[in-house]
Amino acid sequence: MKTLIVANWKMNPASLKEAKTLFEAIKKGIKNIKNVEVVICPPFVYLSAITQSAGGLVLGAQNCFWEEKGAFTGEISAPQLHDLKINYVIIGHSERRKYFNETNDQINKKIKKSLHEKLGPILCVGETSEEKQMDKKVEVLEKQIIETLKNISSKEIKNIVIAYEPVWSIGTGDNCSIDETMSSILFIRKVIFKLYNREISDNIRVLYGGSVEPDNAASYIKNAGANGLLVGGASTSSEEFIKIIRSVA
Ligand code: PGA
Repeated sequence: MKTLIVANWKMNPASLKEAKTLFEAIKKGIKNIKNVEVVICPPFVYLSAITQSAGGLVLGAQNCFWEEKGAFTGEISAPQLHDLKINYVIIGHSERRKYFNETNDQINKKIKKSLHEKLGPILCVGETSEEKQMDKKVEVLEKQIIETLKNISSKEIKNIVIAYEPVWSIGTGDNCSIDETMSSILFIRKVIFKLYNREISDNIRVLYGGSVEPDNAASYIKNAGANGLLVGGASTSSEEFIKIIRSVA
C-alpha cells in the first residue's frame, strides 16, 4: 500500500495564477517519486482549471453536499465532483464542524453520497483541546466514527480513508506526539474492528494531520503507524510540501 499524502489548501491561495504555479511546482518536484500517492485538495473554484493539468497527481475536494442537485444555493454536489474526475473528498474537517456546525449525521450523509459517486471520502476525526483536557478523547473518537459510518457496508468502508486530526494540533505548530498519535490510531482501528472485522481494521488507511512539517512528517509513518498524512499549512508552500513527500518516499 502506497503512503498517502493529502494537501488541504483550505481557502488558499488568493488567485488562480498562484494556484496553478503551486500545483505545477509540486508536480515538478515529485515527478520521480513513485511510492507515494499525492492528493491535492484545492478550493472548488480552482478544481476544473487544475484538473486539466493533473498529470500524475490526484485531485480531491475539501467538501461536498449530500443532495444530488436542486435548490441548495452555494453548495457543490458529489456528482459535480465526479464529473470533473475528482478522486477524493475531505469530509467532516474540524473547521467545517466548528464554523459551519457540521454534525456527524450530516457527515454520514455526505460520505454516503460521495461513495455513491465513486469519490474516496477522507473522513476527519479528532478531539478538541477541551475534550482532551477532560480525558474524553476515546469517547469522542468512538462517537464520531460510529455516527459518521452509520449504515456504511463492509464493502463501502474499504474506500474510506480516516484522518486522525486532533483539533488542538491544527494550524498551531503543536503537533501530536508520536506515542499519542499511535494510541489514537490503534484506538480508531479498534473501533473499526468492532464495527466491521479484523481484515478491514488492519487494512483501512488511517492518516495523521495537525501541524505536519518536513521535520516531523516521516516519524508519523515510521513510528506511529500512520498510513499517510493530511497536510494543511505546509502544503501551500511547494518547497515544504515537496520536502514532506520526499521524507516519506
Ligand atoms: P495544518 O492543518 O497542517 O495547517 O495543521 C491540517 C489540517 O487542517 O488538515
